[in-house]
Amino acid sequence: MDKNSVFWNIIRLDEVGSTNDYARDLAANGAPEGTIVVSKIQKSGKGRRGRLWHSPQGNLYLSMILKFSSEAFVMGQLSFVVSLALTKVLNELTGKSKFLCKWPNDVITSDYCKVSGILIETTGTSLNDFVIIGMGVNNKNHPDDVDGAIKATSLSDCGISIENEKLLELFLEKFLEMFNFWKIEGFSGIRQDWLENAYGLGQDIVIRLPKETLKGKFEDIDQDGAILFINEYGQRQRINSGEVFFNKD
Ligand code: BTN
Repeated sequence: MDKNSVFWNIIRLDEVGSTNDYARDLAANGAPEGTIVVSKIQKSGKGRRGRLWHSPQGNLYLSMILKFSSEAFVMGQLSFVVSLALTKVLNELTGKSKFLCKWPNDVITSDYCKVSGILIETTGTSLNDFVIIGMGVNNKNHPDDVDGAIKATSLSDCGISIENEKLLELFLEKFLEMFNFWKIEGFSGIRQDWLENAYGLGQDIVIRLPKETLKGKFEDIDQDGAILFINEYGQRQRINSGEVFFNKD
């Protein structure tokens, strides 16, 4: 038995509303850490900000249950661990640095097309006892272009031919390694690695917040994962959640 299969208990479904909702119900009913829900299809896959996540057969849809008590901003660091783990797996598959992490938690190609999105859900209290990490990877297909959203692509269109099962295995192995590193070392090691694999450092960005839109130059992320940028007035500003767009949109 490899070290992966000791930690993970994978529940495989043919169809579900949302793997995140399914995993949340399991967690609320005592499912242990390491439980993973994978489905071939999602009927109502959820994206961030209440969007729908297009979920036909052929792509990877998974949600993991992790259990520990921590504040929400610490949980947010997990999105960097997840996106970095997937980015590394995809780059190892291609042998090139084609895939990059887009703040805060997307994986995109170097020509700015999204292949994966992550949705982290906590119990919603200041101290969480479990967290659901949902990840969708456009493996065989991808949604059509939508106005105002980053273009999507698929691994197939990027020349990667891999079955979802194999992708899941490679991802879980890498994620577990990095998750354990993060638990011991904290965010600093992940932060550096993430920056080395980040899209758009030094580039012009637009940050959409619920009530305003900010412009600036992407400079760094801080020790909590917040984005640091030089705003249009030349001041350094810090934002911990929002949607970032580069001038390709
Ligand atoms: C985003 O980029 O907006 C996040 C997308 C997250 C999609 C995944 S697919 C598996 C899991 N179940 C869901 O309902 N959503 C996440």
